[in-house]
Amino acid sequence: MSNNKNVGGFRVSGSTIADEIKSRCNIVDIVGRYVELKRSGSSYKGLCPFHSEKTPSFNVSESRQFFYCFGCGASGDVISFLMKIENIDFHAAVSKLAEEYGIDMDRFGYRNEGKKNEIYEMNREAAVFFYRNLTEKPNPGYEYMKKRGLNPKTIARFGIGFAEDSWHALQNHLLEKKYSEEMMMQAGLLSASNGKRYDKFRNRVMFPIFNTRGKVIGFGGRTLGDSGPKYLNSPESSVFSKKNNLYGLNLTRNEINSSNCAILVEGYMDLVSLYRNGVRNVAASLGTALTEQQCALLKRYTQNVVLSYDADAAGQKAALRGIELLRNAGISARVLHISDGKDPDEFITKNGKEAFLKLVDQALPYADYRISVARGKYDIGTPSGGIGFLREIRGILADLSPVEADVYIKKIAAETHISESAIRREVNETAESARTGRTAAGGRQQPAQTLYPAGTGGRVPDIRRVEGDEMIQMHFIKLAAVNPDYLEPMKDYEFVFEDPAYARIYNMIKDVYLEDSEVDINKVSDNLLPEDDVLFRKALERVVFPENSDQVFRECVEKIRYEKLQKRQNEILEALTLLTEEESDRNRADALTKELIELQRTMQNIKLG
Ligand code: CTP
Ligand code: MN
Repeated sequence: MSNNKNVGGFRVSGSTIADEIKSRCNIVDIVGRYVELKRSGSSYKGLCPFHSEKTPSFNVSESRQFFYCFGCGASGDVISFLMKIENIDFHAAVSKLAEEYGIDMDRFGYRNEGKKNEIYEMNREAAVFFYRNLTEKPNPGYEYMKKRGLNPKTIARFGIGFAEDSWHALQNHLLEKKYSEEMMMQAGLLSASNGKRYDKFRNRVMFPIFNTRGKVIGFGGRTLGDSGPKYLNSPESSVFSKKNNLYGLNLTRNEINSSNCAILVEGYMDLVSLYRNGVRNVAASLGTALTEQQCALLKRYTQNVVLSYDADAAGQKAALRGIELLRNAGISARVLHISDGKDPDEFITKNGKEAFLKLVDQALPYADYRISVARGKYDIGTPSGGIGFLREIRGILADLSPVEADVYIKKIAAETHISESAIRREVNETAESARTGRTAAGGRQQPAQTLYPAGTGGRVPDIRRVEGDEMIQMHFIKLAAVNPDYLEPMKDYEFVFEDPAYARIYNMIKDVYLEDSEVDINKVSDNLLPEDDVLFRKALERVVFPENSDQVFRECVEKIRYEKLQKRQNEILEALTLLTEEESDRNRADALTKELIELQRTMQNIKLG
């Protein structure tokens, strides 16, 4: 194989500080400071700042990081834009951008471009060496790749290679090619101990990592044996910065741009596997947690990302972090759930492209995903689980626009039997405290959420469908008046007579009964104040018993108990929100939570009759 063969898509051309700048800053952001840009298809349009015009013929292509004007012919990259618009020279434009984007001009070799190019060249040479090891003679690396379903075409496409199980194979090869050991050390191709230098990558399948300009910036090596980490990556260096690059993007960015969607995976093999199965709008986060810079890099090609991480807990955690980061970068992110196998590679290898694309379709948007994760953590069938769940999602909902939040609140209410108003109260309060900077409890006007308020489904006693405490008092009055036997069991519930008028009526019934051992309604009437008598008559008239007055009494009692528990529940919830996470509050919080759980279980039993 000749050195000119286009392995993995790398090209032979110089790399400069300009390349570094262009890979970090987005031309759309810079031009946007001078020109009002509007998105138009895959690029942006505006009025040309370099000639006078009334209809926009000035275009900025985000994916190509290039501007051009159909009117006056001005064109170039972000640096030439800055030179032209600020009327400064190349050096000034570069310094300006390097400063803004935190690029250390020395470290990135502005004064040493030649050396940096040499490292790229050497890396490329190493990649070719590894590739030949894998493709030109029998070796365990090739067997392994074959076993994992890769064919020679895919291997060539990615420039996958093999590092022999040898201490000096690459070192000797590069020395022959006149590269210095210092440079090999600098690029992380060699390791050293006790003054001896040796190949860092041994007995590993090698994945060269390219930047979007096609330079080999580093390697990831997967072990074929048991020694060392499963994947070994090049160390950070003047040419390799993990946080600023995504694996595979050099090959997939056009596809990402044209499909306006990127699928983000964790592993090298996930990417290769999706790619060879025909899913090509993919990038891999190089085994690190996703970074802000990687989000910015992706955003050049699309504003839609589907996170496709491993199915395990670690993957879920990474997805939660990632979705937040993407969202903050202004990218609309969804999370895909691998339903079969541990990672996208296993899934697509087993189930094929169409099945995977179906998962992409089903990927959950931001809020749905976060809510579904929260739901998985709680047993929302139980009241305490319901509370925990609500606590966790209120922040998510408070973040959404009111219209969006409304959709979710309805959905959650329907799925969990937590009332809409309870959810709303939590959300409003979270939003309110976010606005005022107070703690959630600080601005509270209302009691905390009521998980099972009367009237929300189930069999909450509804006392003949008349609202409020007055109804209970009226029922008790009528019950006592028509059947004084109820006076005895009512003793335990006399506290319901909050209204003094009803209390007076109730006492009068008791007095009459004490005197006569029966209750003559007319006698009660005659002895009441005229306005109390009006109420008494109303109670007798309005309250219509079904055949079974015992049941009415029972329902009243249930309702009273339920409301008492509810009141206590609200007190506890109120108290809980005032407590901190501090040690000092923890015991009290635990006790309250325990009481709450018991109380809610009782409420549930009442509700179920
Ligand atoms: N990784 C790493 N270093 C490790 C382990 C993992 O850098 N010691 C990174 C690699 O980029 C790897 C990714 O994390 O591709 C995912 O790791 P893992 O899920 O453990 O591996 P897989 O991609 O499933 O690897 P394979 O299918 O080859 O077993
Ligand atoms: Mn895997």
